[in-house]
Amino acid sequence: MSQIDWQAVKSRARELDEADSLAQWRDHFYLKPGTVYLDGNSLGLQSREAEASLQRVLSEWREAGIDGWGGGERPWFDLSEQLALSLSRLVGAKPQEVIPTGSTTVNLHHLLATFYRPTADRRVLLVDELNFPSDLYAARSHIELHGGDPERDLRVVRGQGGQLRVADILEALDDKVAVAVFSSVLYQSGQWLPTRQLADRAHQVGAMLGLDLSHAIGAVPHALHEDGVDFAFWCHYKYLNAGPGAVAGLFVHERHFDRSPGLAGWWGSDKERQFDMSPTHLPATGAGRWQIGTPHLLSLAPLEGALAIYEGAGLQALREKSLSLTRFLMALIDRIDEASSGRAGYVIATPRADDQRGGHVAIRHREATRIAKALKARGIIPDFRPPDLLRLAPVPLYTRFIDVAEAAQALADIVTTGAYKGFSEGRDVIA
Ligand SMILES: Cc1ncc(COP(=O)(O)O)c(C=O)c1O
Repeated sequence: MSQIDWQAVKSRARELDEADSLAQWRDHFYLKPGTVYLDGNSLGLQSREAEASLQRVLSEWREAGIDGWGGGERPWFDLSEQLALSLSRLVGAKPQEVIPTGSTTVNLHHLLATFYRPTADRRVLLVDELNFPSDLYAARSHIELHGGDPERDLRVVRGQGGQLRVADILEALDDKVAVAVFSSVLYQSGQWLPTRQLADRAHQVGAMLGLDLSHAIGAVPHALHEDGVDFAFWCHYKYLNAGPGAVAGLFVHERHFDRSPGLAGWWGSDKERQFDMSPTHLPATGAGRWQIGTPHLLSLAPLEGALAIYEGAGLQALREKSLSLTRFLMALIDRIDEASSGRAGYVIATPRADDQRGGHVAIRHREATRIAKALKARGIIPDFRPPDLLRLAPVPLYTRFIDVAEAAQALADIVTTGAYKGFSEGRDVIA
């Protein structure tokens, strides 16, 4: 392998870090000294803000007991509605179109229970094979709940090399489709789909479009309202950094506010009437009606601090830095490839175009399992998906260009020295 001048790479990285106007945000996060954390697309790190908002709710519980629901700095009773304003800005929605609630998969179930109403002529639920498995299980179960046959009613767009061809999706969207569910950013390759184009096509054929934003929220901007997306759902534990299993979120376009929630519960009531305890459901006007039961306050509280960080740093600036970081990383992988005349074996599986990729870079390698372990042993925390995918997320809030340079040098070194061979092939990498 011809030499890469890593000293020159690192001095360029340091220059970029010095010019970085977002650099101060790194100090808001708990980073383990001596490690490079590139797994924020799976679990984002804890910030001081998220810790503080959780601590505040814990203290309120300790000091005020039941009165925490109605009193204190931010009464728990409508904390979800209070957070919706900031959340709506991240996804390009009106505040009343968004609510933090439930979990990702449960929210999809709830939205399908609301929007998937198959008829004799229109019964197809359209998905793609690269979608997160939980979404596919949920889709299948709704077909079965309606007495349908998944073999007939679940239409699956096939991928190629870990990516979807937009033309294939548009072709699959015909007038037999009742609801289509795709990911905004694909969890494996990081491909970012053109939301507006999909929504327009869905509406042309009379179908509805739902989007999974789990790998997209906080990484790329959205305009869910303007684009006319019918519904969306997502988690807050990846780029949003609200903590493991944090309360998730959903969006319903305001033109659907007259719909009854598929899985009604008292927390979806009009807030003014909730304690009337009426046997008849009196739903809230906006997306709040898609809440079901009492919010999981201790998993909701960190979201307040997590959102404050986004308000401070600004999504657009973060997206620009993220693009520079992923561009820098991909250029270094290319150099490793060139320097080794392809023998290093790394293949970038993420689209190169800025408007087609999210916040992580996916890299295929036939030894990905052992490389992931070798990286971890060097304090570089990657993400691994079997059988051969490394996902590296240089999250702009807490990743420096020098971290990316260190990670790339480690990737080069691990294959050239054969260091990965010291690790087992077992898939015991949890990421
Ligand atoms: C794209 C995507 N969708 C859905 C899920 C499922 O989320 P949950 O386990 O929070 O329901 C995940 C989990 O990582 C995901 O990455």
